[in-house]
Amino acid sequence: MSIGVPQRSAPTPATDPARAGQRWAARAEAVSKVYGSGETRVRALDVVDAGFVHGELTAVMGPSGSGKSTLMQCLSGLDRVSSGRVWIGDQELSGLGERALTELRRDRVGFVFQAFNLLPTLTARENITLPADLGGRAVEADWLDHVVDTLGLRERLAHRPGELSGGQQQRVACARALVGRPELVLADEPTGNLDSRAAGEVLGLLRRSVDDLGQTIALVTHDAAAAAHADRVLFLHDGRLVAELSSADAGEVLETMAGLEHAGAEPGGSGTPDLDGAPVVDAAAAEAARTARLLRAQLDAFIADVDALAAGTGDRRGAAL
Ligand SMILES: Nc1ncnc2c1ncn2[C@@H]1O[C@H](COP(=O)(O)OP(=O)(O)OP(=O)(O)O)[C@@H](O)[C@H]1O
Ligand SMILES: [Mg+2]
Repeated sequence: MSIGVPQRSAPTPATDPARAGQRWAARAEAVSKVYGSGETRVRALDVVDAGFVHGELTAVMGPSGSGKSTLMQCLSGLDRVSSGRVWIGDQELSGLGERALTELRRDRVGFVFQAFNLLPTLTARENITLPADLGGRAVEADWLDHVVDTLGLRERLAHRPGELSGGQQQRVACARALVGRPELVLADEPTGNLDSRAAGEVLGLLRRSVDDLGQTIALVTHDAAAAAHADRVLFLHDGRLVAELSSADAGEVLETMAGLEHAGAEPGGSGTPDLDGAPVVDAAAAEAARTARLLRAQLDAFIADVDALAAGTGDRRGAAL
């Protein structure tokens, strides 16, 4: 297929009313996200319409800086959109306060980030069950066993993150995202730090959690083979949704990516910054800042719960950090 790079996101099946009968696990409508102001202004998302169908694995691809992580952050409410609307299930995020957003993320969304975001003082097992513990929910023992065994973590459960390899730490993060069976798992390059065997195992687990358990997953990846595991692939370019494939094989994904990269390299092709000049924050720094924000929000919620318990007003929870 040939890829044009339109000035605005073209209507795609992701927003096609013909698919309206399907249940969206998450949806972005005309979402724009602008970082900074003046000369350092960056338009990371530019009027994006994207839907994530319940019970599907949707891959999100695009060149570095195209807005993939920003879209994930906006979907989870970790970043507020500059304009447009976002829903998780039937819940629109814009009306929610910080506390409600934190609870929604903790109870209904699982995360796996590029950078490991495990708590260093907790064991692998404690990290995996942390969201459930914070939310006062019991962990299903059989499912926990299944996830742990599939990810090859059985022998590592008592270890702290500092005693695990990078790949093992990322598998712990995957286990943590899946174990609570959230409405939506947002996985931002979950296999980026794994060798090909471990990456294959993680992708296989993500795929099976969709097929066998109806899990909904949004998977950001640069890997065409990983995207070929997906039901649909959305392509971002310069903050715009420019293409969508269904049940694509790796060859089709590569061809589409090559079209995007070619479009970006053409004279006159727009760069990511809104104005001339380099982006103010590189993607790795932005990622680290977001991870810190997520952890801080989780801990704030936990501390508020502990305070409520201490004051005798808490109705649940007794997680230990
Ligand atoms: N907090 C921030 N402040 C300023 N600019 C930001 C911030 N977060 C992201 N950006 C910019 O927004 C653009 C999109 O970034 P984003 O992290 O979404 O890209 P990405 O597609 O995930 O890239 P990668 O594949 O490298 O992870 C980039 O130009 C980035 O520098
Ligand atoms: Mg990213």
